[in-house]
Amino acid sequence: MTRPGAPLRAGDELTLDIADLAFGGRGVARATGFVVFVEGALPGESVRARVKRVKAGYAEATCAQVLTSSPDRTAPPCPHYGECGGCDLQHLAPPAQAGAKRNQVVSLLGRLAGLADAPVTEAVTAGPPTGYRFRMDFDWGTGPGGHSVLGLHRAGRPAEILAIDRCLLMAEPANAIRRLTAERALRLGLGTWDRKRRRGLLRRLGIQMARTTGEIVVTLETSRGDPPALGGLARDLVRDFPRVVGVVRREYDRYDRFVGDSILCGRDHLFEEIDGDRLKVPAGAFFQPNAAGAGRLREVVLQALEPRAEESILELFCGIGFFTLAAARRSRRVVGLDVSRDAVAAARDNAARAGLGNVRFLCRDVAEALPGLLQEAGRDALLIDPPRTGLPRSVALAIARAPVPRTVYVSCDPATLARDIRLLSEAGGLRLRSLTPLDLFPQTHHVECVARLDRA
Ligand SMILES: C[S@@+](CC[C@H](N)C(=O)[O-])C[C@H]1O[C@@H](n2cnc3c(N)ncnc32)[C@H](O)[C@@H]1O
Repeated sequence: MTRPGAPLRAGDELTLDIADLAFGGRGVARATGFVVFVEGALPGESVRARVKRVKAGYAEATCAQVLTSSPDRTAPPCPHYGECGGCDLQHLAPPAQAGAKRNQVVSLLGRLAGLADAPVTEAVTAGPPTGYRFRMDFDWGTGPGGHSVLGLHRAGRPAEILAIDRCLLMAEPANAIRRLTAERALRLGLGTWDRKRRRGLLRRLGIQMARTTGEIVVTLETSRGDPPALGGLARDLVRDFPRVVGVVRREYDRYDRFVGDSILCGRDHLFEEIDGDRLKVPAGAFFQPNAAGAGRLREVVLQALEPRAEESILELFCGIGFFTLAAARRSRRVVGLDVSRDAVAAARDNAARAGLGNVRFLCRDVAEALPGLLQEAGRDALLIDPPRTGLPRSVALAIARAPVPRTVYVSCDPATLARDIRLLSEAGGLRLRSLTPLDLFPQTHHVECVARLDRA
């Protein structure tokens, strides 16, 4: 039992009132001068918490017992919840998840961007709270007793792979594909990659699943080598799951360097349809993770961008051209840039299929290409959708100084977005005009944001 005012120690148990939900899904409380992050606790609750770790100025705790429950608390639908590192908000009812994420975005903008009253709209929700993922990756690892397992990373111990029966974030037959792959691999004697010894074959299984066409592409990430049984596994997948249109292999050397890819069976891409656009998505290429919410995201992006018929738009990190096609229909010209060769090739196909002749795609690294692109006069708007690490500093500085009147920044990490908004504002005077959070990742703390920045 901890006395009021006494310093906290690992192992202490205390009663806490949870005031807030931190980014990452933990409840926040204050005790004896510490901020305590409590796993599994919700705002408005009173809980018995057990301190796990004490750091400078804050402590981490687990929730031993909920004494007064939040009306938004709900029974987690997944039996692996708590053990699996994939979801962290299943104990909060989905409508409340969206509101909590909006609050977190507001608080991150205050803390990291220095914006006290950021213009953040209500969170947009789209699609069902389960079975929404376009893509899932499962890793092979060694489970208890030295058995091979194919599953997801364990919560709190990400080096361990947890064997899972069914992941609720993905619609069927994704789980059946995972189960069959694990069983057949074992039966065919295909070894599992051992991270410590740096040997073994099978590393990761990727499943991409189109919601509208039903097509599925399976990617097997492996080490080098030529085991004939791998072809047999691919053929089994195509035979047992008629929706699997292709199985692709990506090879890595023992130092995790990418060596090359090859088609084991069928084709190396699938087609997804969003609001009338038939989009080619290559195996392993990025596509919006929530296919049911992708159309709504594109609408929000277009509303923020406000492209006009006479305007020229530069789009960085364009991927397979998902936003590009919609922007090109409403503007004079769009130049899209992405570093992935496969994504840019697909973007060109997608634009041609849509009959759009006013787009140009460049396959370049953004940091290298941007200074030249920004020198080309007459850019009216910039659309950017970087990976979760956000903008490289040199890219943010180049954007801050470029004479482009408006920028729309799409982000799946509000912390790096807030950091970049601060940089764009301090280095170039860009002002945040609006930010819309979209809850496209239900059951997890992740949130998509669309920010519109104007040159002051
Ligand atoms: C979040 S995805 C956005 C894709 C696209 N906007 C969409 O909606 O499908 C990020 C994209 O950035 C690209 N990318 C990552 N690093 C890059 C770099 N240094 N230069 C250019 N593109 C990069 C990736 O290939 C990926 O397609």
